[in-house]
Amino acid sequence: MSELAAPAIDWWTMLTDPDYLANPHPDLKRIREMGPVHLDEPSGIYFVLGHEAFSAMVRAPQMGRDTRLWTNGWSRPESKARDPLSFELFSEFQRQMVNSDPPDHRRMRDVYEKAFRPAEIPPLRPMIEAEARRLADSLPEGEPFDFMTAFANHLPLRVVRNLFQISPDMDPELARWNAALVKIGDIMMSREQKLEALEALRAYKSFLRGHLETQRGNADNKLMMLALEALDYGTMDEDETLNNLKGLISGNETTVNVLGNGLLTLIRNPGQLQCLRDNPDLMRTAIEEIMRHEPAINFILRVAIEDFEYGGMIIPAGSLVLALICAINRDPARFENAESFDIARRPNAQIIFGGGPHVCIGASLARLEVEVALSVLLERFSRIELAGDPVWWTDRTNQRGLESLPVMFGR
Ligand code: HEM
Repeated sequence: MSELAAPAIDWWTMLTDPDYLANPHPDLKRIREMGPVHLDEPSGIYFVLGHEAFSAMVRAPQMGRDTRLWTNGWSRPESKARDPLSFELFSEFQRQMVNSDPPDHRRMRDVYEKAFRPAEIPPLRPMIEAEARRLADSLPEGEPFDFMTAFANHLPLRVVRNLFQISPDMDPELARWNAALVKIGDIMMSREQKLEALEALRAYKSFLRGHLETQRGNADNKLMMLALEALDYGTMDEDETLNNLKGLISGNETTVNVLGNGLLTLIRNPGQLQCLRDNPDLMRTAIEEIMRHEPAINFILRVAIEDFEYGGMIIPAGSLVLALICAINRDPARFENAESFDIARRPNAQIIFGGGPHVCIGASLARLEVEVALSVLLERFSRIELAGDPVWWTDRTNQRGLESLPVMFGR
């Protein structure tokens, strides 16, 4: 493994640098060429940049997602005295499938998976289409506007709120809570952001506790019925139920990023945009390519439950591993012409939904939302242009998305 010979990399300066966050690809290409797995000696954290290493890691039973096992983790009991606020925040956030290892992970995931199976998703298309068309109707023509605040920020929230039968009056509160919670998982949270996230988490749980009770007996609200059934049978306790429901609702933030990154990538590649207009049947492969080329997240984490060996290197139990998605999705060992954007690319083993037992439960829903949104926009507007410089989020190190995307549309 080449990490031993490689020059030291200042990972934390790089990963939080605004220029890197706006365009991480050149740095990651250079580092990936030095090797697929790197150890940051001062922190003991491993970084994965190769596709094969990532695939092996996410499927390995030795690799989990419970950060309480991370030797330096915030939610370890020993860390409480050192940083009580982080301990309180991560303990409040802990008990949900995404943070759990077997057997708890499967126990919780089984409850909700029934609502996300492939057959459950296509019937949602008319609802998603109606929301996308309503939003498209409200967009200005022939004048600049911000695509993120006018369209992308709203569609995924409305879809998930309809799924859970939550009143539209809650949109501003949900958006505020989601914005605070998106910082969890960031590698540079300030004290204020931790306090905001803790307050949002508690407010979310309190709202969901009330919503669960009002939905009792409403068989049309499948997700809430599954949650109530699991609670009543003791499959999950109340804190697990509320944390998992919160995770399902706030999971839509990454779909927002795909919508923004996708539109920007298409505008920047006018030949591919025209090709998609001429061949709408390429929409599905185009969406996979958008997600590969400009991923909506920066990293996926794992914590070694036991020692894990890859390519002669041992990642010791208790280590935190961060898989850098932008590097993996352009690994030339897995993707031909990895740097180029090709909407017809097939096969396309992009990995923004993770892999193994934790692979995103909402992946089919997210794909359908993006497909419907882009189809509605391309059908409605024959002119889609940039109207200024896009602004990438530079204070969200875990997410990769746009704060604003100035565009102009016309028919
Ligand atoms: C394009 C949009 C999305 C992206 C990029 C995304 C990405 C991810 C990733 C990377 C993981 C962790 C996978 C791993 O560790 O291997 C994950 C898990 C998860 N996602 Fe998504 N997600 C998206 C949309 C959604 C939506 C719409 C929902 C809810 C309806 C959702 C709910 C969840 C849940 C509950 C988990 C935890 C699954 C588990 O631990 O078993 N996600 N997602």
